[in-house]
Amino acid sequence: MSGPDQLPPPSDQDWTFPKPKKTRKRPLPPKLPQRTGPLKSPQEIETEYLQIKQDWSTSPCCISLRKLIASNGRNLSPVNKAICLGLGTFDPHDDSWETKRRTYRQYIAFVAMVEELEKFTTNKIECIFQEPLFTEPEKQFLTTKGHRVVDHPVACQSITDDSLLYGVHLYRELYQEALDTNLPAIFVGTDWDTWDELMLQEPALMRGVKSMHERYEKFQFPDDGLTFSSTAIYWRPRGAKIGEGAGEEDDEDKHADAKPELELTGKLEAVVIS
Ligand SMILES: C[S@@+](CC[C@H](N)C(=O)[O-])C[C@H]1O[C@@H](n2cnc3c(N)ncnc32)[C@H](O)[C@@H]1O
Repeated sequence: MSGPDQLPPPSDQDWTFPKPKKTRKRPLPPKLPQRTGPLKSPQEIETEYLQIKQDWSTSPCCISLRKLIASNGRNLSPVNKAICLGLGTFDPHDDSWETKRRTYRQYIAFVAMVEELEKFTTNKIECIFQEPLFTEPEKQFLTTKGHRVVDHPVACQSITDDSLLYGVHLYRELYQEALDTNLPAIFVGTDWDTWDELMLQEPALMRGVKSMHERYEKFQFPDDGLTFSSTAIYWRPRGAKIGEGAGEEDDEDKHADAKPELELTGKLEAVVIS
Protein backbone atom coordinates (compact mmCIF):
# COMPACT_ATOMS: atom_id res chain seq x y z
CA MET A 1 0.00 0.00 0.00
CA SER A 2 1.34 3.43 -0.84
CA GLY A 3 2.00 6.00 1.86
CA PRO A 4 -0.93 8.35 2.42
CA ASP A 5 0.79 11.22 0.66
CA GLN A 6 1.75 9.28 -2.44
CA LEU A 7 -1.46 7.66 -3.56
CA PRO A 8 -1.39 6.49 -7.17
CA PRO A 9 -4.15 7.53 -9.53
CA PRO A 10 -7.31 5.44 -9.17
CA SER A 11 -6.61 3.22 -12.17
CA ASP A 12 -3.34 2.02 -10.59
CA GLN A 13 -4.67 1.35 -7.10
CA ASP A 14 -4.39 -1.99 -5.44
CA TRP A 15 -7.63 -1.72 -3.50
CA THR A 16 -10.42 -1.25 -5.97
CA PHE A 17 -13.22 -3.73 -6.47
CA PRO A 18 -14.90 -2.73 -9.72
CA LYS A 19 -17.53 -5.45 -9.93
CA PRO A 20 -21.11 -5.34 -11.10
CA LYS A 21 -23.30 -4.79 -8.04
CA LYS A 22 -25.16 -8.12 -8.16
CA THR A 23 -21.96 -10.16 -8.13
CA ARG A 24 -19.72 -8.12 -5.85
CA LYS A 25 -20.72 -9.87 -2.60
CA ARG A 26 -17.10 -10.93 -2.16
CA PRO A 27 -14.54 -8.23 -2.90
CA LEU A 28 -11.40 -9.42 -4.65
CA PRO A 29 -8.46 -9.98 -2.30
CA PRO A 30 -5.92 -7.18 -2.64
CA LYS A 31 -2.96 -7.73 -4.95
CA LEU A 32 0.09 -8.21 -2.76
CA PRO A 33 3.10 -6.03 -3.61
CA GLN A 34 6.60 -7.52 -3.80
CA ARG A 35 8.06 -8.03 -0.32
CA THR A 36 11.60 -6.79 0.31
CA GLY A 37 12.42 -8.81 3.46
CA PRO A 38 11.25 -11.87 5.47
CA LEU A 39 7.94 -11.88 7.35
CA LYS A 40 8.11 -10.53 10.89
CA SER A 41 7.57 -13.13 13.60
CA PRO A 42 4.71 -12.75 16.13
CA GLN A 43 7.36 -11.85 18.76
CA GLU A 44 8.78 -9.08 16.55
CA ILE A 45 5.29 -7.70 16.02
CA GLU A 46 4.67 -7.86 19.76
CA THR A 47 7.89 -5.93 20.43
CA GLU A 48 6.92 -3.14 17.99
CA TYR A 49 3.40 -3.13 19.37
CA LEU A 50 4.65 -2.61 22.94
CA GLN A 51 6.95 0.24 21.83
CA ILE A 52 4.17 2.08 19.97
CA LYS A 53 1.63 1.38 22.71
CA GLN A 54 3.91 2.88 25.34
CA ASP A 55 3.96 6.22 23.49
CA TRP A 56 0.56 6.31 21.94
CA SER A 57 -1.68 5.06 24.75
CA THR A 58 -0.81 8.21 26.72
CA SER A 59 -1.38 10.50 23.70
CA PRO A 60 -4.17 13.13 23.81
CA CYS A 61 -5.95 11.18 21.05
CA CYS A 62 -6.09 7.90 22.99
CA ILE A 63 -6.92 9.60 26.28
CA SER A 64 -9.80 11.56 24.66
CA LEU A 65 -11.10 8.36 23.13
CA ARG A 66 -11.19 6.56 26.49
CA LYS A 67 -12.90 9.55 28.11
CA LEU A 68 -15.47 9.75 25.33
CA ILE A 69 -16.44 6.08 25.82
CA ALA A 70 -16.35 6.30 29.60
CA SER A 71 -18.57 9.38 29.75
CA ASN A 72 -21.19 8.14 27.27
CA GLY A 73 -21.34 4.41 27.98
CA ARG A 74 -24.16 4.71 30.50
CA ASN A 75 -26.55 6.57 28.16
CA LEU A 76 -25.74 4.83 24.91
CA SER A 77 -26.16 1.21 23.80
CA PRO A 78 -24.00 -1.52 25.32
CA VAL A 79 -21.78 -3.73 23.16
CA ASN A 80 -21.21 -7.49 23.38
CA LYS A 81 -19.06 -8.12 20.33
CA ALA A 82 -16.41 -6.04 18.56
CA ILE A 83 -15.64 -6.47 14.87
CA CYS A 84 -12.62 -4.90 13.25
CA LEU A 85 -12.48 -4.75 9.46
CA GLY A 86 -9.55 -3.68 7.26
CA LEU A 87 -7.05 -2.75 9.97
CA GLY A 88 -4.18 -2.82 7.46
CA THR A 89 -1.00 -4.77 8.09
CA PHE A 90 1.51 -4.67 10.97
CA ASP A 91 4.14 -5.91 8.52
CA PRO A 92 3.95 -3.98 5.23
CA HIS A 93 5.99 -5.30 2.30
CA ASP A 94 8.31 -2.25 2.40
CA ASP A 95 8.34 -2.01 6.24
CA SER A 96 6.92 1.54 5.89
CA TRP A 97 6.70 3.12 9.35
CA GLU A 98 3.86 5.35 8.28
CA THR A 99 1.73 2.40 7.20
CA LYS A 100 2.45 0.17 10.16
CA ARG A 101 2.19 2.98 12.70
CA ARG A 102 -1.35 3.61 11.45
CA THR A 103 -2.22 -0.06 11.84
CA TYR A 104 -0.73 -0.29 15.35
CA ARG A 105 -2.49 2.90 16.45
CA GLN A 106 -5.81 1.79 15.01
CA TYR A 107 -5.38 -1.52 16.83
CA ILE A 108 -4.46 0.18 20.13
CA ALA A 109 -7.48 2.52 19.81
CA PHE A 110 -9.77 -0.44 19.06
CA VAL A 111 -8.56 -2.30 22.16
CA ALA A 112 -8.89 0.87 24.27
CA MET A 113 -12.51 1.24 23.12
CA VAL A 114 -13.24 -2.39 23.94
CA GLU A 115 -11.66 -2.08 27.40
CA GLU A 116 -13.79 0.97 28.16
CA LEU A 117 -16.95 -0.67 26.81
CA GLU A 118 -16.33 -3.76 28.94
CA LYS A 119 -16.81 -1.55 32.01
CA PHE A 120 -20.51 -1.30 31.01
CA THR A 121 -21.14 -5.03 30.49
CA THR A 122 -20.75 -8.09 32.64
CA ASN A 123 -19.27 -10.18 29.83
CA LYS A 124 -15.94 -10.06 28.09
CA ILE A 125 -16.34 -8.57 24.61
CA GLU A 126 -15.29 -10.96 21.86
CA CYS A 127 -13.01 -9.31 19.24
CA ILE A 128 -13.10 -10.50 15.63
CA PHE A 129 -10.66 -9.33 12.95
CA GLN A 130 -10.95 -9.60 9.16
CA GLU A 131 -8.12 -8.28 6.98
CA PRO A 132 -6.95 -10.16 3.86
CA LEU A 133 -3.45 -8.69 4.22
CA PHE A 134 -2.75 -10.46 7.52
CA THR A 135 0.13 -12.91 7.32
CA GLU A 136 0.18 -16.07 9.48
CA PRO A 137 2.48 -14.41 12.09
CA GLU A 138 0.10 -11.42 12.26
CA LYS A 139 -2.82 -13.79 12.83
CA GLN A 140 -0.81 -15.52 15.55
CA PHE A 141 -0.03 -12.17 17.20
CA LEU A 142 -3.76 -11.43 17.37
CA THR A 143 -4.91 -14.90 18.41
CA THR A 144 -2.32 -14.95 21.21
CA LYS A 145 -4.08 -11.85 22.54
CA GLY A 146 -7.35 -13.81 22.65
CA HIS A 147 -8.87 -12.37 19.46
CA ARG A 148 -10.46 -14.31 16.59
CA VAL A 149 -9.18 -13.80 13.05
CA VAL A 150 -11.57 -14.76 10.26
CA ASP A 151 -11.71 -14.70 6.47
CA HIS A 152 -14.15 -12.69 4.42
CA PRO A 153 -17.15 -12.63 4.73
CA VAL A 154 -17.40 -14.10 8.26
CA ALA A 155 -16.86 -10.79 10.11
CA CYS A 156 -19.25 -8.89 7.82
CA GLN A 157 -21.89 -11.50 8.52
CA SER A 158 -21.30 -11.47 12.29
CA ILE A 159 -22.51 -7.90 12.85
CA THR A 160 -25.49 -7.69 15.19
CA ASP A 161 -27.33 -4.79 16.75
CA ASP A 162 -25.15 -5.08 19.88
CA SER A 163 -21.83 -5.02 18.01
CA LEU A 164 -19.11 -2.44 17.69
CA LEU A 165 -18.16 -2.25 14.02
CA TYR A 166 -14.74 -0.65 13.64
CA GLY A 167 -13.41 -0.01 10.14
CA VAL A 168 -11.23 3.02 9.48
CA HIS A 169 -10.82 4.26 5.87
CA LEU A 170 -12.48 1.30 4.20
CA TYR A 171 -13.83 1.13 0.66
CA ARG A 172 -17.46 1.81 0.05
CA GLU A 173 -18.23 -1.77 -1.03
CA LEU A 174 -16.98 -3.17 2.26
CA TYR A 175 -18.93 -0.69 4.38
CA GLN A 176 -22.03 -1.45 2.35
CA GLU A 177 -21.62 -5.18 2.72
CA ALA A 178 -21.00 -4.92 6.48
CA LEU A 179 -24.02 -2.65 7.02
CA ASP A 180 -26.32 -4.55 4.71
CA THR A 181 -28.23 -6.65 7.25
CA ASN A 182 -27.88 -5.10 10.70
CA LEU A 183 -26.80 -1.70 11.95
CA PRO A 184 -24.37 -2.06 14.89
CA ALA A 185 -24.67 -0.39 18.30
CA ILE A 186 -21.50 1.55 17.51
CA PHE A 187 -20.01 2.25 14.12
CA VAL A 188 -16.51 3.67 13.71
CA GLY A 189 -15.77 4.61 10.12
CA THR A 190 -15.84 7.31 7.47
CA ASP A 191 -18.47 9.87 8.45
CA TRP A 192 -21.61 10.61 6.48
CA ASP A 193 -20.50 14.18 5.63
CA THR A 194 -17.56 12.81 3.65
CA TRP A 195 -19.77 10.36 1.74
CA ASP A 196 -22.39 13.00 1.17
CA GLU A 197 -19.87 15.32 -0.46
CA LEU A 198 -18.59 12.54 -2.70
CA MET A 199 -21.94 11.12 -3.73
CA LEU A 200 -24.07 14.06 -4.71
CA GLN A 201 -25.18 12.11 -7.78
CA GLU A 202 -25.84 8.92 -5.84
CA PRO A 203 -27.90 9.65 -2.75
CA ALA A 204 -29.13 6.07 -2.39
CA LEU A 205 -25.66 4.70 -1.65
CA MET A 206 -24.35 4.28 1.91
CA ARG A 207 -27.84 4.28 3.35
CA GLY A 208 -26.63 2.45 6.47
CA VAL A 209 -24.24 5.28 7.33
CA LYS A 210 -26.87 7.87 6.48
CA SER A 211 -29.40 6.17 8.74
CA MET A 212 -26.95 6.15 11.66
CA HIS A 213 -26.00 9.76 10.94
CA GLU A 214 -29.67 10.70 11.34
CA ARG A 215 -30.56 8.51 14.32
CA TYR A 216 -27.43 7.90 16.38
CA GLU A 217 -25.29 10.14 18.55
CA LYS A 218 -22.31 11.27 16.52
CA PHE A 219 -18.81 12.05 17.79
CA GLN A 220 -15.73 12.98 15.81
CA PHE A 221 -13.10 10.29 16.36
CA PRO A 222 -10.21 11.96 18.22
CA ASP A 223 -7.43 12.29 15.62
CA ASP A 224 -3.68 12.62 15.85
CA GLY A 225 -3.33 14.07 12.35
CA LEU A 226 -2.26 10.72 10.91
CA THR A 227 -4.59 7.93 11.80
CA PHE A 228 -8.31 8.75 11.90
CA SER A 229 -9.03 11.46 9.30
CA SER A 230 -12.75 11.84 8.38
CA THR A 231 -13.62 9.19 10.97
CA ALA A 232 -16.71 9.36 13.15
CA ILE A 233 -18.17 7.36 16.00
CA TYR A 234 -21.91 6.75 15.56
CA TRP A 235 -23.45 5.34 18.74
CA ARG A 236 -27.09 4.29 19.17
CA PRO A 237 -28.86 5.79 22.19
CA ARG A 238 -29.75 3.21 24.84
CA GLY A 239 -33.28 1.89 24.29
CA ALA A 240 -33.62 3.48 20.82
CA LYS A 241 -35.36 1.52 18.07
CA ILE A 242 -32.96 -0.92 16.46
CA GLY A 243 -32.48 -0.18 12.78
CA GLU A 244 -32.20 -2.67 9.99
CA GLY A 245 -29.27 -2.59 7.63
CA ALA A 246 -29.16 -0.90 4.27
CA GLY A 247 -30.86 -3.99 2.79
CA GLU A 248 -31.74 -4.64 -0.80
CA GLU A 249 -31.08 -2.01 -3.35
CA ASP A 250 -34.01 0.00 -4.64
CA ASP A 251 -34.57 1.57 -8.02
CA GLU A 252 -32.47 4.56 -7.10
CA ASP A 253 -29.59 2.23 -6.17
CA LYS A 254 -29.83 0.45 -9.50
CA HIS A 255 -29.73 3.73 -11.28
CA ALA A 256 -26.64 4.64 -9.24
CA ASP A 257 -24.78 1.72 -10.83
CA ALA A 258 -24.55 3.74 -14.01
CA LYS A 259 -21.70 5.75 -12.43
CA PRO A 260 -18.25 4.13 -12.69
CA GLU A 261 -17.23 2.87 -9.24
CA LEU A 262 -13.52 3.26 -9.77
CA GLU A 263 -13.88 6.98 -10.07
CA LEU A 264 -15.73 7.20 -6.78
CA THR A 265 -13.39 4.87 -4.94
CA GLY A 266 -10.40 6.88 -6.09
CA LYS A 267 -11.96 10.16 -4.98
CA LEU A 268 -12.80 8.77 -1.57
CA GLU A 269 -9.35 7.33 -1.04
CA ALA A 270 -7.82 10.69 -1.82
CA VAL A 271 -10.07 12.39 0.71
CA VAL A 272 -10.00 10.07 3.67
CA ILE A 273 -6.31 9.25 3.93
CA SER A 274 -4.78 12.64 3.56
C1 LIG B 1 -7.67 1.92 2.51
S1 LIG B 1 -7.07 0.54 3.42
C2 LIG B 1 -7.23 1.13 5.10
C3 LIG B 1 -6.26 0.46 6.02
C4 LIG B 1 -6.19 1.08 7.42
N1 LIG B 1 -7.44 0.93 8.13
C5 LIG B 1 -5.78 2.55 7.32
O1 LIG B 1 -6.55 3.43 7.70
O2 LIG B 1 -4.67 2.79 6.88
C6 LIG B 1 -8.43 -0.61 3.29
C7 LIG B 1 -8.12 -1.94 3.96
O3 LIG B 1 -9.24 -2.81 3.78
C8 LIG B 1 -8.72 -4.11 3.62
N2 LIG B 1 -9.72 -4.99 3.01
C9 LIG B 1 -9.95 -5.22 1.69
N3 LIG B 1 -10.90 -6.15 1.55
C10 LIG B 1 -11.28 -6.52 2.79
C11 LIG B 1 -12.22 -7.45 3.30
N4 LIG B 1 -12.98 -8.18 2.49
N5 LIG B 1 -12.35 -7.58 4.63
C12 LIG B 1 -11.60 -6.83 5.48
N6 LIG B 1 -10.68 -5.94 5.06
C13 LIG B 1 -10.52 -5.78 3.74
C14 LIG B 1 -7.50 -3.89 2.74
O4 LIG B 1 -6.62 -4.99 2.77
C15 LIG B 1 -6.92 -2.64 3.35
O5 LIG B 1 -6.00 -2.92 4.37
